[in-house]
Amino acid sequence: KKAENQILIIFGASGDLTKRKLLPALFQLYKDKLLPDKFVVLGASRTDLSDDEFRAKADEFLSKEEGVEDFKKMLFYQPISPSEEKDYGKLKERLTELEKQYKMEANYIFYLSTPPSLYDVIPKHLASAGLSKSEKFFRRLIVEKPFGSDLKSAKELNISLLNYFQEEQIYRIDHYLGKETVQNMLVTRFSNGIFEPLWNQNYIERVEITSAENLGVEGRGGYYDHSGALRDMLQNHLLQLVGFVAMEPPVVVEADAIRNEILKVFQSLRPISESQVSKYVIRGQYTDSVIKGEKVLGYRDEPGVDHLSRTETFVAIKFFIDNWRWAGVPFFIRTGKKLPTRVTEIVIHFKSVPHHLFNPSQSLSGGNNQLIIRIQPDEGILLKFGMKTPGAGFDVQTVNMDFHYSDLADKHLSSAYERLLLDCMQGDATLYARGDAVEEAWKFVQPIINAWGTNPEIPIYGYPAGTWGPEDSDKLISPRGTWRYPCK
Ligand code: BG6
Repeated sequence: KKAENQILIIFGASGDLTKRKLLPALFQLYKDKLLPDKFVVLGASRTDLSDDEFRAKADEFLSKEEGVEDFKKMLFYQPISPSEEKDYGKLKERLTELEKQYKMEANYIFYLSTPPSLYDVIPKHLASAGLSKSEKFFRRLIVEKPFGSDLKSAKELNISLLNYFQEEQIYRIDHYLGKETVQNMLVTRFSNGIFEPLWNQNYIERVEITSAENLGVEGRGGYYDHSGALRDMLQNHLLQLVGFVAMEPPVVVEADAIRNEILKVFQSLRPISESQVSKYVIRGQYTDSVIKGEKVLGYRDEPGVDHLSRTETFVAIKFFIDNWRWAGVPFFIRTGKKLPTRVTEIVIHFKSVPHHLFNPSQSLSGGNNQLIIRIQPDEGILLKFGMKTPGAGFDVQTVNMDFHYSDLADKHLSSAYERLLLDCMQGDATLYARGDAVEEAWKFVQPIINAWGTNPEIPIYGYPAGTWGPEDSDKLISPRGTWRYPCK
């Protein structure tokens, strides 16, 4: 169904996210005829631009396809200083003007794509200008990541937002939830009688998640050096994936039912105390190296990064979920920058058979009984199991059943931002993180942040750029086997 007519107000519209992700996603929705009948984007930022200048800037990031000129006519710009309360009067006037011009309803989505220091300022000023509530129209607020930098700041941010907006109006974005295969995990698990009965500690030996990037910090050294892999990827994106892998079936497919189940997973994470951090968590930082004949800088030499930085660009963790379904099943996650390839995948390792009739070393090796959910690239699902090698004897070899998600769609798979923007336009918060779950996820990682911050004896291992991270991350998993190396 089409969403109601509305205006999307983007704070931080002259920034990178708007150009690289939001505008291309909106253009795609436009081409797919999924935008509301009347739809306007109002960029709001400090840079002084006219509508035409904003459109010209947008143009650089939009593909030159049919319709692009018409799409650009929906884009407007209002220079404002988001921290100045008085500027919100101008914003309000401009919104009223656009509504009159297009004879449209005053439904608004405010998208905060600004530095996080403005996340509590903008909602406050929106509220004082009377823009956060309306009897007749909807008012929604999308908050970009990072949602806080630790448990305390995330709680404060939640409290502050809730002073001006209701929880139902707040959409905390985690773009991993917009990825097709993440949503597909719900369908794979809860629409097939063959997987779900096995999806528990009786049949699953361990769960492994790898999210590798071959890129480094790409000019974001200033931001990243205060963040690191734990905050940048694990606390949000990867724990959200755990939520989808581990949750109980929701009562219905609706935002709160699903988000209640995700919250319960986070509440069941076995806490890792500060003194256990070195046993369960490994951190690393990439050092200079030569990749395909080219010299690559180490993290500490990247622009914006402190030369003595102890910020991790790699983290691996082992943890447990203490509930009925997952008792005793270890979960392993690793993520890092400047690894050999870009891949995000979840590997469900099923237990092996109770008694090996055939050559045991063969039936165990080669990764039999694995279900691999590839989040990216080449979204899909791979099932690995043992088959008899043709010919004499009973030799077992591993075979693959490999499903590529692209085979299902003749058009392009929608990007995470397309899906999430459209959901918010339609008022569906299922794929957005709820405040309580975000806090619970911070609660889990907080002792790790504390231990790393206060105990210089916890090592940060160097790993040459282009390798799979510190060897100690292999030791973390080694009693159970090895990590799956997707590009080997
Ligand atoms: C972002 C992080 O949230 O996710 C980046 O800030 C990271 O550091 C990116 O590169 C990864 O997203 P994707 O969709 O490319 O896996």
